Amino acid sequence: MCPPEHFDVRYAINPWMSGDAPVDTARAARQWETLAAAYRAHGHTVDTITPEPDLPDMVFAANAALCLHGKVFGSSFHAPERRPESAAYEKWFAADGQPVRRPESSCEGEGDLVPVGGLILAGTGFRTSRAAHAEIQEFFGVPTVALHLTDPYFYHLDTALFALDDENVAYLPEAFSAGSRQVLERLFPRAVRATRDDAMAFGLNSVSDGRHVFVAPQATGLVDRLAQEGYVPVPVDLSEFHKAGGGIKCCTQEIR
Ligand code: ARG
Repeated sequence: MCPPEHFDVRYAINPWMSGDAPVDTARAARQWETLAAAYRAHGHTVDTITPEPDLPDMVFAANAALCLHGKVFGSSFHAPERRPESAAYEKWFAADGQPVRRPESSCEGEGDLVPVGGLILAGTGFRTSRAAHAEIQEFFGVPTVALHLTDPYFYHLDTALFALDDENVAYLPEAFSAGSRQVLERLFPRAVRATRDDAMAFGLNSVSDGRHVFVAPQATGLVDRLAQEGYVPVPVDLSEFHKAGGGIKCCTQEIR
């Protein structure tokens, strides 16, 4: 995770960033600390990277890479404002002894790449390119399934879908093209389908360890549904980060 020391909304590269409510930076810092504490309280290890000034979106660590089977595929940001983040994260991984493959085409890490079971679900349409999907499949040797995002409010796959465990996902069908919806129905017939309200509350920008689901409390319908399905919802409010188009998952790079 990247502490939100320099977090702010200073440009608009998604529709959430065009709102006029300023970021309350003290509140953002408290919310971020609560998320880190919730992970630790549930047995997870949290490592941090030193945030860099002038990179207000660096807090969204998920976008920096996809780590899978001990290999790291880095990022190449669509927006010029975010491009310097890639090198900062590469340095962090290098210091940890992990070489990072830099993508040749636009690719925003776990923002658009969701490993589930033996597959990588790969979003495209706004940020990550189809060409990057091919690079990823070749790099990891894992079948990579392209999913087309169609709604600018759900510009990253991780705003419209998350993996509950190795077998199932939760998602918002209307965030995807008709063909991608059919693909999701075929792959995950038992999926938890969320409502647009829950997705707009960043309910699908969640992190699940297979049992606990760290989820936005504003996504009330989804929180109830997860509990009915036998998961343990752990509500964490990241509302200050919603102003930049981010939530729990965006702030979390999972080291697998
Ligand atoms: N402001 C950032 C952007 O638009 C938010 C990134 C959110 N991260 C995510 N994994 N969805 O790029």
